[in-house]
Amino acid sequence: MKRNIVLIGGSYGIGLSIVKQLRESCTIYVASRSTEGLEGYNVKHIPFDALTDSLDLSLLPEEIHGFVYCPGSINLKPLKMLSLANFEEDMQLNFFSMVRVVKDIIGRMADNSSMVFFSTVAVSTGMPFHTSVSAAKGAIEGFVKSLAAEYSPKVRINVIAPSLVDTPLAARLLNNDRKKDSMAERHPLKRVGNPEDIANMAEFLLSDKSGWITGQVIGVDGGLSTLNIN
Ligand SMILES: NC(=O)c1ccc[n+]([C@@H]2O[C@H](COP(=O)([O-])OP(=O)(O)OC[C@H]3O[C@@H](n4cnc5c(N)ncnc54)[C@H](OP(=O)(O)O)[C@@H]3O)[C@@H](O)[C@H]2O)c1
Repeated sequence: MKRNIVLIGGSYGIGLSIVKQLRESCTIYVASRSTEGLEGYNVKHIPFDALTDSLDLSLLPEEIHGFVYCPGSINLKPLKMLSLANFEEDMQLNFFSMVRVVKDIIGRMADNSSMVFFSTVAVSTGMPFHTSVSAAKGAIEGFVKSLAAEYSPKVRINVIAPSLVDTPLAARLLNNDRKKDSMAERHPLKRVGNPEDIANMAEFLLSDKSGWITGQVIGVDGGLSTLNIN
């Protein structure tokens, strides 16, 4: 029997890469606002806005073997340019909407299932202008560690903390060669990430090959969080 994988987001970016990697071996459900990159893939699409909608559980399988929450933000500004409303918006999309979905689907997670969430390298490595997104992603890291303890051994729950990845979300940071080169240069591995770099880790965490890994925040970041090459 094919495993049921549910992605919130998955119509483009890292989520779409996960869809492409798992589409042969799994039955995939994508809940997102658009179907942008999903044409031609055998995916069950659920129209869904995480900010406003409740997930229609009648459209999901009774048993979920893998879950991924993709929506996120990169709202980089100096603190004095960030309003409280900006912090609330980042918290809403990254954290509160995620918690609402998790509360809805957690009862359907199967024995030996896996959940994957996204943080950012900026939580562990302080970076200027990241206060809002780091706070929202830091909340995810704390939430996931506690949730992993609560649902162990039934469900494994982990976080991927990427550095900059070339997706629509990061387009403004990579929209010319000068920016691309300077961002690549900051990383010990001398390039920014591509969606497949992150999807490879998500695929691993969703599979039984990671069967003894839970409650972890795993950096996929070109070495940025751990190596000082300057
Ligand atoms: N890209 C990076 O440099 C980077 C770095 C660090 C961390 N991350 C994190 O990695 C995760 C994935 O990033 P990404 O770059 O792949 O993002 P992305 O390119 O913006 O893709 C996000 C996906 O989530 C869906 N989505 C966004 N808002 C939604 C909403 N309100 N309701 C339902 N679906 C929604 C989008 O589909 P629709 O628009 O069709 O709804 C899309 O499929 C995010 O949590 C991000 O914070 C990314």
